Amino acid sequence: PMIEILNGPNLNLLGQRQPEIYGHETLDDVARACGQLAQELGLQTQCRQSNHEGALVDMIHDARLAAQGIIINPAAYTHTSIAILDALNTFEGPVIEVHISNIHKREAFRHHSYVSTRADAVIAGCGTQGYLLALRHMALLLG
Ligand code: DQA
Repeated sequence: PMIEILNGPNLNLLGQRQPEIYGHETLDDVARACGQLAQELGLQTQCRQSNHEGALVDMIHDARLAAQGIIINPAAYTHTSIAILDALNTFEGPVIEVHISNIHKREAFRHHSYVSTRADAVIAGCGTQGYLLALRHMALLLG
């Protein structure tokens, strides 16, 4: 099974961006680690990132045809995007939402997630390890 790993705005700067919050690993590091773990789990992964809301909607539409599960860190769009929520609602397989930081420990505007009303599971505050936890849970859901 193919798992689409989608990342929203500013996550292209992972590793350089507020490392005290998001850590020193880059998105390439995350993609590599996910690819390795996926192999052990009998899964395949594709990791994509965009800073643009509509591009993320298109990527979710692509996943309808190409993937059995979606792991998504919508970044700031988590808190604002009904379009990304609506797109995820057109996807039939499991959806796991990941946040590197614990959004509930941060500013009040980060406490609400539109995506959580669709997600089958939510992981927050585990750092970039959260993507690997999500992949393990995805293997259980698809197994
Ligand atoms: C984030 C949390 C969001 O509130 C923030 O806008 C991000 C990253 C996280 O991974 O912790 O860009 O999704």
